[in-house]
Amino acid sequence: MKTLSLLFLCSICLMACSTATMEFSSPSGNIVTDVFTTNGGKLGYTISHKNNAVLDSSFISFDFKDAPSLAENLQIKSVKTVHEAETVWEQPWGEDRLVTDHFVGKTFTVTETVPPNRSFDLQFKLYDDGVGFRIHLKGEGEITILDEHTEFQLMADHEAWWIPGDWDIYEHLYKHTKISEIDAIKLQNHPNLAQTYIPENAVNTPVTMRTKEGLHLSFHEANLTNYAGMTLKVDNQSYLLTSELVGRADGAKVQRTLPFSTPWRTIQIAETAGELIESKLILNLNEPNKLGDVSWFKPMKYVGIWWEMHLGKNTWEKSSGRHGATTENAKAFIDFASANNIGGVLVEGWNTGWEHWIGFEDREGVFDFVTSYDDYDIQEVVRYGKEKGVDLIMHHETSAAPRTYEQQLDTAYAMMQSLDIHSVKTGYVGKIIPKGEYHHGQWMVNHYRKVLETAAKYQVAINAHEPIKDTGIRRTLPNAISREGLRGQEFNAWANDGGNPPNHLPTVAFTRMLSGPIDYTPGIFNIKLDPYKPDNQVNTTIAQQLALYVVIYSPIQMAADLIEFYEGQTGFQFIRDVAVDWEESHVLNGEVGEFVTMARKERAGKNWFVGSITNEQARSIDVNFAFLTAGKSYKARIYKDGKDAHWDDNPTSLAVEEMDITSNTKLTIDLAEGGGFAISLIMME
Ligand code: NOJ
Ligand code: CA
Repeated sequence: MKTLSLLFLCSICLMACSTATMEFSSPSGNIVTDVFTTNGGKLGYTISHKNNAVLDSSFISFDFKDAPSLAENLQIKSVKTVHEAETVWEQPWGEDRLVTDHFVGKTFTVTETVPPNRSFDLQFKLYDDGVGFRIHLKGEGEITILDEHTEFQLMADHEAWWIPGDWDIYEHLYKHTKISEIDAIKLQNHPNLAQTYIPENAVNTPVTMRTKEGLHLSFHEANLTNYAGMTLKVDNQSYLLTSELVGRADGAKVQRTLPFSTPWRTIQIAETAGELIESKLILNLNEPNKLGDVSWFKPMKYVGIWWEMHLGKNTWEKSSGRHGATTENAKAFIDFASANNIGGVLVEGWNTGWEHWIGFEDREGVFDFVTSYDDYDIQEVVRYGKEKGVDLIMHHETSAAPRTYEQQLDTAYAMMQSLDIHSVKTGYVGKIIPKGEYHHGQWMVNHYRKVLETAAKYQVAINAHEPIKDTGIRRTLPNAISREGLRGQEFNAWANDGGNPPNHLPTVAFTRMLSGPIDYTPGIFNIKLDPYKPDNQVNTTIAQQLALYVVIYSPIQMAADLIEFYEGQTGFQFIRDVAVDWEESHVLNGEVGEFVTMARKERAGKNWFVGSITNEQARSIDVNFAFLTAGKSYKARIYKDGKDAHWDDNPTSLAVEEMDITSNTKLTIDLAEGGGFAISLIMME
């Protein structure tokens, strides 16, 4: 670890020495970075937190096609301080309405001391909850990056929660191992994945860690724009993580016109696991809203013609004779939504092409995004929805043929706009066509962005499945409302590895959720999936399914089960009541992979909702209601695991209790194995 050096020494050194080092800290002083060059002119940095080293000397370099690498003979020429005063900005929708942005920024201009004497900037922003840095490559003309080698030299063999560095999908279970035990290769070719490519021992981001001393770290990226997604290659012996960009068949990972900036490389640093969730580092490192008023998108709960296909009750394609997306079925969902304070209905399998969507090499030109099957009258469904106050949610499965989709974007979104439909769930199941491109490579990053930008012109919001990971773009383009990008609920219907274990979501909350909203599709009440899937089940209690509406953040939340399974269920009242857009959110307690309790206050309202989930272990959770407005009373309805509840033996045992609660109340609530609780707190006048 580089030692502290005084500023004046540093500036003298910058002019005269071949080595230089420059230390600076975050606004509170708790996080300190040292940027330096070595004798050989390698550019590096270290990070510490409260005087404890977090990252040892970590270097940054690039390999290019037809140009020498930028790795050595580098010199810090100058340093500019960008000290930003604290600002507060507003989210149009989100976990918190107001976000505080406060950092100390420095831009280091670095030059080569040998020809071709190139120059670039290393930009650092130090927040009290973490660090972001990126490279701004200068000059002109085209450049091809063969790889970026940004290092994160961990100090020890931390515990890590990781998924493999798959170039094609994030739908893996999280593993909890030491850094020295990370083995991504072992996870190649999962039989339930329509596309998967894990070329080496790397992890995808966000990857979360805990040090022996209890410090929590999470590594990710912010503002992934016109660049390849970053995985982190793992050295099991030295605990070194090095960026490995997602590639393409010809080896060129990024092709750009100079000048441009890489995405921010981010490290969230927190003393408690909960602070990782509360951190706004990723959003703060993105640019402000470019779309302006997006009030045409309304956060909402939705139901839909979806789970019935995953259960095999009905099908997407019409030819089976069990077509789910009929006008009649859609109307039944609209009736249900309208009667239950649910704003939207998703209809999958409405358009032609599903006979040929999966298991075929040639999927170009298959899907048509404006033509309905003849048993589905989209105009009539929209009209009926309007009459009942329910919005239709569009569905576009591309079967990973993005060129076919791009050809139809304008027509498809224009049709949606003419029907007053303002959101679409997209999907990219299968290997990308053309061959050699991957879901997380630059070409696809640009496709997903084009979809967002084109959709915005037609006032359409996007919920992408099989997406590129979230890197906070929703700040800039708030029509990026939600996405999948994890092993969702659907795996419980058909995975042949037992589905998502009870520790899945208590892990997701501290890993995948750090990147942004998740369309997990909670709310399965028929936990055993009878009679459709005798060999599968959801591995949580019903109380946990309710808690997910608060724990897992998304401005669109599905009540995913078949509507008949909600009939007569006491627990359903919570889904009716729960909000989807929040004024403020707090993590009350939690440990990665074990449990988490969240409290959220509805936006434009006075009511609060609390959700808590646990892994395989039963536990008692203390809830201190001090977050409530002092002096006010709240009518609380507590939905918790019944005494004998258990995710496997007795998942539907639910107890509902009502009481008055104030900010002085403290409760201890028992959670069953794989259980949870959900509380609605309605303020009394
Ligand atoms: C995969 C999505 O994750 C799932 O929700 C959807 O039903 C299918 N693709 C079909 O588009
Ligand atoms: Ca999926």
